Amino acid sequence: MTTLCDNISRGADGVLRFAGQSVCELADRWGTPLYLMDEDRIRANCRMYLGAFRESFGADALPLYAGKAAAFRQMYRIMAEEGLGVDAVSPGEIATALSVGYPAENIYYHGDGKTDADIAFALDRGVGCFIVDNGNELIALNEAAGARGLRQKILLRITPGIDPHTYKAINTGAVDVKFGVPLETGQAMEFVRAALGMPHLEVAGLHCHVGSMVFDEDVFLRTVDLMVDFMAEVRGELGFTFRELNLGGGYGVRYVDGDPHSDIPARIGEVASRLKAALAACGLPLPRFLMEPGRSIVADAGMTVYTVCSVKRIPGYKSYVITDGGMTDNPRFCLYGAQYTVLHASRHGGLRAIFDLAGRCCESGDIIQPAISLPAATGRGDRVAVCTTGAYNYSMASNYNRFGRPPVVMLRGGESYLAVRRETVEDMLALDL
Ligand code: LLP
Repeated sequence: MTTLCDNISRGADGVLRFAGQSVCELADRWGTPLYLMDEDRIRANCRMYLGAFRESFGADALPLYAGKAAAFRQMYRIMAEEGLGVDAVSPGEIATALSVGYPAENIYYHGDGKTDADIAFALDRGVGCFIVDNGNELIALNEAAGARGLRQKILLRITPGIDPHTYKAINTGAVDVKFGVPLETGQAMEFVRAALGMPHLEVAGLHCHVGSMVFDEDVFLRTVDLMVDFMAEVRGELGFTFRELNLGGGYGVRYVDGDPHSDIPARIGEVASRLKAALAACGLPLPRFLMEPGRSIVADAGMTVYTVCSVKRIPGYKSYVITDGGMTDNPRFCLYGAQYTVLHASRHGGLRAIFDLAGRCCESGDIIQPAISLPAATGRGDRVAVCTTGAYNYSMASNYNRFGRPPVVMLRGGESYLAVRRETVEDMLALDL
């Protein structure tokens, strides 16, 4: 059995259990493909972050849940109850949060391409803080805030120029990425100068995000050094002291047993020590500390369950287990070559064989995970589960080929309930004229 997370186990009957519940019974009740989310685990992860933040940085430090990892109404209800802030990247995420009464002042609004309509939407709803990505946005936001008689709180997104050694597509801290304004070129100082000259913007602090799936412990420490150096330069050159610092998200999670463990509270403690020492060395006060974890809050709370449609053996080549899902509910192997742990939901002993776990999209690259070991007798109607799918699966799902997106079923204290219903053909037809 996998050691990925203690919410995965097998009963004496051999049936896979997730958050203590039979995966086969859940699949019978809710149908497949099916996203399961362990609410107790999400809440435990939130508390882990809050506890570590308070211990290391004091009562005003706030983890912001990066909704891009999984954004739906029930998730924002949980974040409101747990007292986390949220990072939103679109009017859609903002509206979803607000629709369940999530407090607008705790929303930090991101995005490198905010339109005038996006800016108006967020300002009119009282979004607490804009994370301004670039100089064009600065001007547009200042004008829009002025037109409304507002002074909008902002953070400035800086690109520290750090390579976090993660997948290329999710490396967001290097100098030449599309996000933020680079330190290295001197543009960051001009960005701050311009922001401080905007009458309708209140510069609260700095933001950076170096990447996702970061395991290298040194990455955040080097980021701290660069950001504090810059804060000191700004104070020296412009006489301004920032009162918030947001280091973004990025802590890695385990998808396969070989992945390293990340002791996040310990990592946060190290960041705190490094930050306090660096600030003290240049006589700067400790700003309010923020981070934006997404994956590490929801990934291990998720599991996707499929029903096997067919098993295909091509002698001398390979074998496939073809499921009722695919790249439509989990595009991460196709996009990033991401690894996953795949488990049979009921068969466990006996002879095993190697299969590619495929989907049913009309595309030969529609592979959920290649070369996985499953019982050789796996056949049509069996259930298989893919672990650790809580982050960037539901939120990146599509209805390619007009397959509907799976429902999200939450598991809490031995019960299950629907958080997002299955997308139907009628839902898709409703958009067509
Ligand atoms: N803050 C910012 C500005 C970000 O861009 C991201 C992720 C986060 C926070 C949250 O990072 P996390 O804690 O989840 O690593 N679709 C990719 C991941 C893209 C991450 C984009 N930004 C994947 O499936 O691996």
